[in-house]
Amino acid sequence: MCGIVGYIGARNTLSVLIKGLKSLEYRGYDSAGVSFIRNGELTVIKKKGKVKELYKAIDESGYNLSESGKNSISAGIGHTRWATHGAPSDENSHPHLSMNGKICVVHNGIIENYAELRSYLKKKGYEFSSDTDTEVAAQLIEYYYTKGGDQDFEGSIRRALQDIVGSYALCVLCVDFPDKIICAKKDNPIVIGLGENENFIASDIPALIEYTRDVVFMEDNCILIMTKDSIVIKDVHGEVVDYEVSHVDWDADAAQKGGYAHFMMKEMFEEPKAFEATVAPRIKDGDIYLEHFPCTREFVSDIRSINIVACGTAYHAGCIGKYLIEKLCRIPVTCTVASEFIYSDPIIDEHTLTVVISQSGETLDTRNAMREAKNRGSKTLAIVNVIGSTIAREADHVLYTAAGPEISVASTKAYTTQLGCVYLLALKFAKTLGTITPEKYTDYQYELLEMPSKLKRILDVQDRIQRFASSEFNAESIFFIGRGLDYYLSMEASLKLKEISYIHSEAYAGGELKHGTIALIEDGTLVVSPITQDELAGKMESNIKEVSTRGATVLAIIPERFAEREFSCNEKFIIPDCDELFAPILTALPCQLFAYYMAVNKGCDIDKPRNLAKSVTVE
Ligand code: F6R
Repeated sequence: MCGIVGYIGARNTLSVLIKGLKSLEYRGYDSAGVSFIRNGELTVIKKKGKVKELYKAIDESGYNLSESGKNSISAGIGHTRWATHGAPSDENSHPHLSMNGKICVVHNGIIENYAELRSYLKKKGYEFSSDTDTEVAAQLIEYYYTKGGDQDFEGSIRRALQDIVGSYALCVLCVDFPDKIICAKKDNPIVIGLGENENFIASDIPALIEYTRDVVFMEDNCILIMTKDSIVIKDVHGEVVDYEVSHVDWDADAAQKGGYAHFMMKEMFEEPKAFEATVAPRIKDGDIYLEHFPCTREFVSDIRSINIVACGTAYHAGCIGKYLIEKLCRIPVTCTVASEFIYSDPIIDEHTLTVVISQSGETLDTRNAMREAKNRGSKTLAIVNVIGSTIAREADHVLYTAAGPEISVASTKAYTTQLGCVYLLALKFAKTLGTITPEKYTDYQYELLEMPSKLKRILDVQDRIQRFASSEFNAESIFFIGRGLDYYLSMEASLKLKEISYIHSEAYAGGELKHGTIALIEDGTLVVSPITQDELAGKMESNIKEVSTRGATVLAIIPERFAEREFSCNEKFIIPDCDELFAPILTALPCQLFAYYMAVNKGCDIDKPRNLAKSVTVE
């Protein structure tokens, strides 16, 4: 979704803004813009298209963009827009100026009552030059700024917020206060980066990491007043509130491509390391330790049901979690798509543990679901990648995945590390409840510890997937079929393929195809089938036989122990052996590689697929 950057300090502001916007490109956007105050004048430059178009426009306007360039700008803000209200165009791009040209705003989120506010302001004589909800915020702030005649920058924002219904990360410049940026936050992230005689704001850490590791995650319903040497955070009543400074230890290079053609490729290659960093430090002396999460017998036995909520890929990790927890702990688990959960009148209470899974920790549907669960008395545990993100802060307990920054829109290493956390959780609960033998508990810890080297072995032979994809990339429709854990994994494999290659795809339980969908199988239809579960392999052979006799081309993904077994497939991809319960951790990688190479062959925009955004902060 949209990205925001802001800077006040001695560096070349335009260079900081453009670099920041570039590092937020992964969030998905269709236009970009900056505004800045220089010699008492407010300038806005914005363009439909990529940040490079904006760069060109700034350059052509005669501004110095080099990092070492002298800075004559006292404050600047920038934005990448992912269109919601109004088509992508120069006019609808942010920043938006108020009518008298004094107030300038960038905004993430949605102003729900914008139509009402717009007609109110029109009656007051305001004219609008865009179709956006954001322009309403700029005009409304100007209205209150000029109304009383006292020109109170901060006060006018606070007053405007009383009228605004919706979600926002708002950053505002006012030409009369050239050394200040004021931000307001509700339901959309703002991270403040602290420097020496300079301060930064951004929607996400990658935009700041080059300059500072000391950050403050703004809380909802707060206003930030930032100058180059101070930050003050106030609540809606204007009372100063305390804030906590967090230190981010992400490597600055982690947000760079580092020689790989795409972030997605780099991030798949990081999976062994990310999985190890997530799992290994939590396994010590034959036991599993989940920091900050009470796994006492008293706590765990009080949990009568588990409710997992998440979206997209994180939801698919949750489905695997449901299977594991039910199998190992015998606790009933539901796993629900977050956007549906809120409206499902869920049966949960204080004996329910709600586990929310989110890479970004900002997904609005997931946040709303967690809040709903909390309101109904449920305990909450968040499995989150981004330290200090809203979900991480609002949950009762947090288990961080150690994936590092995930830049590619298509989630890969975050999924694998989410699996790492759900396996740790299921095993720890089983041990605490006594539903697993001590021998199995020990064996399963080894299984987890061995995963990084097995993931590396898959990466070593990834060219086999590449070759297969090169011959199949013209497929118009691809079905993934599997049973048990392989079915849940198929759901993720199918999502990965469609989001980056735009090939139509569906995931089906192996036994379900014959109840209707098999009608779509015809000569040459591609079917990918992970077959990793011993008890279900025979049944899966029947299912792939059903499709191959109808002309389908079948790729089977199987473990080493099935290598010699006869399957009705055209191609086999062999993954290292492991206990069948752990197979999804390994099977995911060839499926991600398959999606990647299909998309590369089709010439798709791998890291920024069309219409998608990395962090989805609208409902
Ligand atoms: C797909 C993908 C999305 C996200 C989903 C939830 O590759 O990345 O489906 O998994 O939008 O995002 P988070 O995990 O940030 O809550």
